Amino acid sequence: MVDSAAGPVDLVILGGGSGGYATALRAAELGLTVSLIEKDKLGGTCLHRGCIPTKALLHAAEIADNIHESGNFGILSTLEGIDIAKVNSYKDSVVSKLYRGLTGLVNTRGIELVEGYGRLVSPTSVAVGDRIITGRHVVLATGSQSKSLPGLEVDHHQVITSDDALRLDRVPASAVVLGAGAIGCEFASVWRSFGAEVTIVEALPHLVPLEEESSSKLLERAFRRRGIKQHLGARFAGVKTTDEGVTVTLEDGTTIEAELLLVAVGRGPVSEGLGYEEVGIATDRGYVLVDHQLRTNVPTVSAIGDLRPGLQLAHVGFAEGIFLAESLAGLNPPPINYDNIPRVTYSHPEVASVGLTSAAAAQRYGDVVTQTYDLAGNGKAQILQTAGAVTLVAVPDGPVVGVHIVGDRVGELIAEAQLITSWEALPAEVAQLIHPHPTLSESIGEAHLALAGKPLHSHN
Ligand code: NAI
Repeated sequence: MVDSAAGPVDLVILGGGSGGYATALRAAELGLTVSLIEKDKLGGTCLHRGCIPTKALLHAAEIADNIHESGNFGILSTLEGIDIAKVNSYKDSVVSKLYRGLTGLVNTRGIELVEGYGRLVSPTSVAVGDRIITGRHVVLATGSQSKSLPGLEVDHHQVITSDDALRLDRVPASAVVLGAGAIGCEFASVWRSFGAEVTIVEALPHLVPLEEESSSKLLERAFRRRGIKQHLGARFAGVKTTDEGVTVTLEDGTTIEAELLLVAVGRGPVSEGLGYEEVGIATDRGYVLVDHQLRTNVPTVSAIGDLRPGLQLAHVGFAEGIFLAESLAGLNPPPINYDNIPRVTYSHPEVASVGLTSAAAAQRYGDVVTQTYDLAGNGKAQILQTAGAVTLVAVPDGPVVGVHIVGDRVGELIAEAQLITSWEALPAEVAQLIHPHPTLSESIGEAHLALAGKPLHSHN
């Protein structure tokens, strides 16, 4: 093995996904020298197998829904079919364009991109093939991968993960979706829009079970109306595959037949065989443990993104990358506020939230107040014919600590909600803000008017 010819760099980053490349870009901006190691394609899960391609599919699905529903608006059209090859080429073209842009950014910032499989070999170095790359500091950003259940074997053909689902060259006639988190609900939504018979199986009592219960219930109702079947509070017992498809059995004895089974029961860390334990990095079930500065127990090694315990979201990876680069460059960035990370499930309808659920707020503050504003009173929601609601969670006579929204396009509203919870705004302060009419954003204003005791277009 040979040492890196150029000598140690400031930062060696293992993994070029959202967390790794964000660290690299910000560090380079701050004048640090960076080697970024990636075994596959720069951009990682988010760009190639996650956020971007799935949202492209969801957009195509929305167009199919618009055609289905066009008669409600007096526009007569019929959906002739789904050309999945064309849908996939549209999806892939979006990914390719962003990939080219990202590659260009990394090049122009003078970051060394090392293509290959890296392995941590000391507290300051990573081996890639027969090359050792040494840095003042090492950042682990190797991300996550789909998990399965003990005894449930993914064959990538009839029992598939979200990676396989994105590569499908057909719309399944029917599918069972195991797990009703973001991945399960988004694929259920896409496939239903494309005409598949979809059944969701979720062990907990609700769809998107980490969300405010009222949001989950609204999504359940909307999915029921769309003909998406749901087995909630249902434990998966097993699956049998045949030439025709799969038979899924639940613990209560129910059997469900379908063309395929999507396993969407969460994602686990990619940390095995990468040398972390040999170098003495503390882990818990494969997740790399970090402090609030994102440092591991080994002082020269940090870890960010899906690899550490916590929310697995691309925008968290970006935020952690920026924070880490700034802190390693000697700036003193403000800590990341993990309570106020926006979360969006991009199904039809969307579920968006920021801050605490009413249950979590009650645990933290004792007493809480909630206020729900039904989108039935919002002009734009009626124009779009979308149903849903905004629910606020606030401390009595205190700030708003949670905002929960359901409805089409509401993902775009959650950034304003983040300002509200991050600035610990009082309901009366937000009620003062003037929202443009007629927009969906007014529903946030209306909910705060109601919570401040002066409801306008609401009955409660
Ligand atoms: P998840 O952990 O959010 O949801 C998995 C669901 O599977 C849970 O509701 C769980 O109760 C259920 N489950 C587990 N075992 C089960 C069993 N034996 N039988 C029935 N149900 C069972 O994981 P998901 O949806 O796979 O997503 C992985 C990660 O990726 C999450 O952190 C998610 O937030 C993130 N992600 C975010 C997206 C977004 O922000 N729009 C989109 C896709 C993924």
